[in-house]
Amino acid sequence: MSKRLLLLATAVALCSTSICAQPRDVAGAELFGKHCVACHQTDGEGIPGLAPPLVGALKKIVEVDLGRTYIAHVLVSGMAGTIKTRVGKFTGVMPSQAALSDHELAAIASYVLSTFNESQVALKPEGFAALRSKALPPGEVRKLREQVLAQIDGQ
Ligand code: HEC
Repeated sequence: MSKRLLLLATAVALCSTSICAQPRDVAGAELFGKHCVACHQTDGEGIPGLAPPLVGALKKIVEVDLGRTYIAHVLVSGMAGTIKTRVGKFTGVMPSQAALSDHELAAIASYVLSTFNESQVALKPEGFAALRSKALPPGEVRKLREQVLAQIDGQ
C-alpha cells in the first residue's frame, strides 16, 4: 500500500469513531428519537390527550432566565397537571428524564429549541448537573411554567 493510501485508510478508520463526532444536532435528533418521539412525535406536534406540542411552545419561554430553568426542570423533574398550550388545555404527566446524562439532556434540549422553536439558545450540561440536587415535584414544575408565562405576559 502506498503511503498516501495508508493515510487515507487511517483517516477513514478515525472517522468511524467518536473523534469524528456528529454535530450536536444530530446527536440531539437521535436522542429525541429514542426518548421523546413516543409522546411528542417526530415532528414535535405531540399527540392530542397524551403529549402537548413542542413546536413553537418554548420560543418565548427560552428567552427569559426563569424559562430556561423551567425547560431544564421539565426534563430533570418531569411535570404534571393542567397546562395551557396553543392547542388548548392539556392535562398529562411528563415523566422525569433524569436517567439521561447531563450531556444527553443538553443535546436533546438544544435540539428541541433549534428544530422546533427557531432558537439558537443551547442549554449547557452544567446547568442540568446543577439542577439535579434541586429536582422539584412534577406539580411544582407546572407552577413554575405559570410563573414564566406570567413574566412573559408582563413584559
Ligand atoms: C410518556 C410521554 C412523554 C415522554 C416520553 C416525554 N414527554 Fe414531554 N411532556 C409529556 C406531557 C404529558 C407533557 C405535559 C405535562 C402536563 O400536562 O403537565 C410534556 C411536556 C413537555 C414540555 C413542556 C412543554 C410546554 O409547553 O411547556 C417539554 C419541553 C417536553 N415535554 C419535552 C420532552 C422531551 C425533550 C422529551 C424527551 C427527553 C419528552 N418530553 C418526553 C409527555 C412526554
